[in-house]
Amino acid sequence: MTLVTVDDFEEAARARLSAMTYDYYRSGSDEEHTLRRNREAWARYAIWYRTLVDVGAPRVATTLLGAPVSSPLAIAPTAYHCLADPEGERATARAAAAAGVLYCASTLATTSLEDVAAAAPGAPRWFQLYVHRDRDFTARLVERAKSAGYGAVVVTCDTPVLGRRCADVRNAFGLPPGMTMANLVETLPPDLREGPGSELARFVAARHDPCFTWKDLDAIARAASPLPVVVKGLVRGDDARAALDHGAKAIWVSNHGGRQLDLAPSTADGLVEIASAVGGRAEVYVDGGVRSGTHALVALALGARAVFVGRPILWGLAAAGEAGVARVLALLLEELVRAMQLAGCPDLDAAKNDLVRRA
Ligand code: FNR
Ligand code: LAC
Repeated sequence: MTLVTVDDFEEAARARLSAMTYDYYRSGSDEEHTLRRNREAWARYAIWYRTLVDVGAPRVATTLLGAPVSSPLAIAPTAYHCLADPEGERATARAAAAAGVLYCASTLATTSLEDVAAAAPGAPRWFQLYVHRDRDFTARLVERAKSAGYGAVVVTCDTPVLGRRCADVRNAFGLPPGMTMANLVETLPPDLREGPGSELARFVAARHDPCFTWKDLDAIARAASPLPVVVKGLVRGDDARAALDHGAKAIWVSNHGGRQLDLAPSTADGLVEIASAVGGRAEVYVDGGVRSGTHALVALALGARAVFVGRPILWGLAAAGEAGVARVLALLLEELVRAMQLAGCPDLDAAKNDLVRRA
């Protein structure tokens, strides 16, 4: 079958993955209202296209915190890529590098951050940080990211505890023998495998720091310096302003792909609120439910400088490894460029200013 859309890649991935892994990747929390809301929200906008503009070759190259990238499309951090493909995060890193796309690697990768860096030397990459109760260990992760040439530390703020993904509880989801949270080997609790329900939920409950607050963010920003800190997982304007006051250089609007608080707002709505609160003082990014370049164009028009995708990359990786990630990235870019052409946008600046309105 010719894979024409991201949804086609999801079908192809589903056919190759175990039910347990597919459920883990796909799920949202509880009743999955926010998971659905994210995707539906992009289509609540209409694109008021312009005509008779030269759209022969739309210019989409840009910079993210100063790093040149081929387009505003980027790869969000997702855990456990080795469940999708034996090459795991290495394959993702290589495909991203070949496409000139920024890859944000997860703390919960199945490949160490040093090995991710070595797989694609010189490529634009950021490190996503979960703040652990063990602050010395958290500080070591930041040091390792600095040494390995990462360009920013992305602090995820929406995961003080893990949202309940019902399928993972039912499936007793956990990593199979031989696969590990490669960044955390020195700190893994020995009894992680014991107990009912989701192993990941037990891990987060044991290790993540639910008492982490704004003042702790200042300390992380100081420790990360000279690397900039990006705060990921915000939907509120007042939180975005607080993040900037506490040392963040950029704001990443996200609700974790609908996997944390169910009934959280869509990220499209969060983006509108945060873009207005930040008012050009910092770069603002978004992720959540982006399944086409046309969705991405709406996000750009609402004020995002970058649009990150999570699950689409996992679907590409599971469907065809590194080549599958490359094809998903190429597909999203092709869709974005075509949407810009049809909307009369010769460049990214034109993808702002009244291009979209609520349908
Ligand atoms: C995630 N996400 C995530 N975020 C993060 O900061 N650290 C992580 O380790 C993970 N892990 C993770 C695993 C899986 C399977 C998914 C689906 C998501 C959230 C991710 O960065 C991003 O916010 C969402 O995936 C964006 O939504 P879409 O594009 O998947 O709809
Ligand atoms: C997730 C994590 C671990 O499964 O971020 O969403």
